[in-house]
Amino acid sequence: MTLGGDIVDRLEIVGGNRLTGSVRVNGAKNAALPILAACTLAHGECVIDDVPNLQDIEVMIGILRSLGMVVAVDNRTVTINATGVTGVEIPDEMMRKMRSSIFLMGPLLSRFGEVKISKPGGCSIGVRPIDLHVKGLKALGAEIVESHGHIHCKATRLTGAEVYLDLPSVGATENIMMAAVLAKGTTTISNAAREPEITDLANFLKAMGARIFGAGEDAIVIEGVDRLSAAMYSPIPDRIVVGSLLIGAAITRGDVVVKGVIPSHLTAVLNKLRETGVEIETGHDIIRARMERRPNSIDRLHTAYYPGFPTDLQAPFMSLLSVCNGTSIISETVFEERFKHVSELQRMGAFIKVDLRTAFVRGVAELSGATVEATDLRAGAALVLAGLAACGRTVVEQVYHIDRGYESIESVLGDLGAQIVRL
Ligand code: EPZ
Repeated sequence: MTLGGDIVDRLEIVGGNRLTGSVRVNGAKNAALPILAACTLAHGECVIDDVPNLQDIEVMIGILRSLGMVVAVDNRTVTINATGVTGVEIPDEMMRKMRSSIFLMGPLLSRFGEVKISKPGGCSIGVRPIDLHVKGLKALGAEIVESHGHIHCKATRLTGAEVYLDLPSVGATENIMMAAVLAKGTTTISNAAREPEITDLANFLKAMGARIFGAGEDAIVIEGVDRLSAAMYSPIPDRIVVGSLLIGAAITRGDVVVKGVIPSHLTAVLNKLRETGVEIETGHDIIRARMERRPNSIDRLHTAYYPGFPTDLQAPFMSLLSVCNGTSIISETVFEERFKHVSELQRMGAFIKVDLRTAFVRGVAELSGATVEATDLRAGAALVLAGLAACGRTVVEQVYHIDRGYESIESVLGDLGAQIVRL
């Protein structure tokens, strides 16, 4: 039994129930992963709170242990002591399990001067190249040899440099930042990613003694220091899980309050939900979404790098647009293959036409329940949300994808009134 369920688990949903009530979200997967990797940089014991209980986190902890780190997990608190790191090579099977293992390149290279990983594969949403990660680490002085599907990096001591990212890559920005904090001299990352998870990682690194300026903007300056010390930290709430729950409230014409959130992380998403007619109220750390009628279509949904509309919520939002009054146009500009959920939504009666990176969604009055397959975590979430509103019974297969990004999705939605069970 893996965390969150078995490979053959399925979710059965009977649609028609409104989601109502309140729910609190946990720490963000995409903030916790690089933060756990960054613990490699510290001498001493880091304590990270509010770490989500997800398979990807379990894989990251497994990798840290395989490198010789002492990692203890107590519910959502992860304690990591990197003093005794013995290795710098990440086992192939672990790289294959989770491409986010790439986040260990920067820290291992920075602290130990060497790292060996196998090239992460692509996945169902695209090729996922790592050329910008490699370009940044080379700029900092790493000698990188790529052969037989492996990458071997070595550097006696990294030296600060000017790095320009052709694309504001989240992972590349994080990797380069983690490499630069112990480099000799100053590094500037231009055209850096501005996602909240970047700022969160920078805040953790600063808590350890790093000198970072401009995280969250498009130019980040890092002044290398000689040593980082352990720190305690709690990652930001998961804005993608929050957005998924708000879309669930909208598609079921429900009334949901999500607590423990940072509303400013979801500005683009809240605006798009309001355009469909959802009533949104925000407080200091809460967002309420209410919907009492069929949503309206929107002229365009254009995914973009932060602060634009997040690509991770494109699939969930497409489920909502599938039952809107009218036709909406979705442009997926970040990943080249992120429409795998379209054919599954079509099985449920959605009327969608795809042309390269654009989807034309003509809303139907009601979707019909069907057996569908999750192809990645956000596509899976989209199918669950569609099932909540569909007439009849929907079975979502390959649920392990969903478990990578959503903690026991069936109990969270069940507590809000959904009729959903894990088979
Ligand atoms: C992070 O992936 C997230 N994952 C993704 O969330 C998210 O979709 C993505 O950022 C975009 O916001 C984690 O944080 C663990 P990128 P990442 O590098 O860092 C291209 C989820 O559902 N690119 O910002 O891999 C790349 O092909 C996951 O939780 C290069 O060309 O994304 C893509 O088109 C899915 N070369 C674009 O940049 C590179 O070296 C953005 O990718 C790196 C990226």
